[in-house]
Amino acid sequence: MLKYVKWVTVALAIITMAAILQSTTASGTVMQVQNTYSAKCALCHAADGSGNTPKGKELKMKDLRSPEVQKMSDTEMYKLIAKGKKKMPGYEASLGKQACNELVVYVRELAKKK
Ligand code: HEC
Repeated sequence: MLKYVKWVTVALAIITMAAILQSTTASGTVMQVQNTYSAKCALCHAADGSGNTPKGKELKMKDLRSPEVQKMSDTEMYKLIAKGKKKMPGYEASLGKQACNELVVYVRELAKKK
C-alpha cells in the first residue's frame, strides 16, 4: 500500500513538472517571436502593425491588421516574410523557417488585438 502511494506521488510530480515545462516553453515562444518582431519588423511596420512609423510612412505601408493584408493566405504571407517583396526584405535566410512561420501567426495575433 505504502509503495503504491509513493508511485502515485512520483507520477503526479512528473505530470506537474511536464505541465509547467510545457506552459513555460509555450509562452517562451510567444516572447521570442515578439522580440523578433520588435527587432526586425517594428522599424517599418510599427510595434502594433499599423505602419505608423517614419519609415512606414515613407514606404506607404499598409496596416498589417487591415482586412486587405489579413486576407492573404498563410502560405502567401509566409512567402512574403520569407522571401520579401520589393522594399520588404526576406527573412528566411537570417531567421529560419520556424521563425517565419511564427511571424505569420504573430501578424494574425496583431489583427485580433486591434
Ligand atoms: C525595410 C522595411 C521593412 C521591414 C524591416 C519589414 N517590412 Fe514587411 N513590408 C515592407 C514593405 C515596403 C511592404 C509592402 C511590400 C509591397 O507589396 O510592395 C511590406 C509588406 C509586408 C506584409 C504584407 C502586407 C502588405 O503590405 O502587402 C507583411 C505580412 C509583412 N510585411 C511582414 C513583415 C514582417 C513579419 C517583418 C519582420 C520579419 C517585416 N515585414 C519587416 C517593409 C518592411
